[in-house]
Amino acid sequence: MNPSSTRLSRRYERIATQLSELFEENPDSQSRMATAVALLHHKMSHFFWTGFYRLVGEDLIVGPYQGPLACSILLPRGVGVCWAGITRGESILVPDVRLFEGHIACDSRSRSEVVVPCRDRSGNVVGVLDVDSVTVNALGSEDVVGLERIVALVTEIPHSPAQGR
Ligand code: SME
Repeated sequence: MNPSSTRLSRRYERIATQLSELFEENPDSQSRMATAVALLHHKMSHFFWTGFYRLVGEDLIVGPYQGPLACSILLPRGVGVCWAGITRGESILVPDVRLFEGHIACDSRSRSEVVVPCRDRSGNVVGVLDVDSVTVNALGSEDVVGLERIVALVTEIPHSPAQGR
């Protein structure tokens, strides 16, 4: 079941605050991804699968994730919601995955999905954060906003003591 939008926004707020503190001393992107996924997956009761896919060369391969085994370590190029997020360069909310042409079902229980692209410091798309739920319409615009904020934190350049002098 998805929480009310106010509760959900507050929950994202708390997660973002906690991640900001954890990331202060941690510039490593893989470690940040793993930490963000762990926190999101355990705090968001409506998340069934939570993880990153990273663009490596021209392949989209699974990164840190929590939930059932990702059936596709490497997603077939140009197909599915994750690749759509990469090629469109924008977040994609899929209220019912059965209505998204080409959707890749890593687990037959998945019913709704959000994909948020991750960018490097030059603005190039380098991967996606992908969240699945087992209920149709369980993920909504609050999740898109909240997850975009989390992705921005994961990819944000840490402040070095020399900066701003
Ligand atoms: N559904 C995704 C594949 C990844 S799984 O959901 C973990 C897609 O269509 O790209």
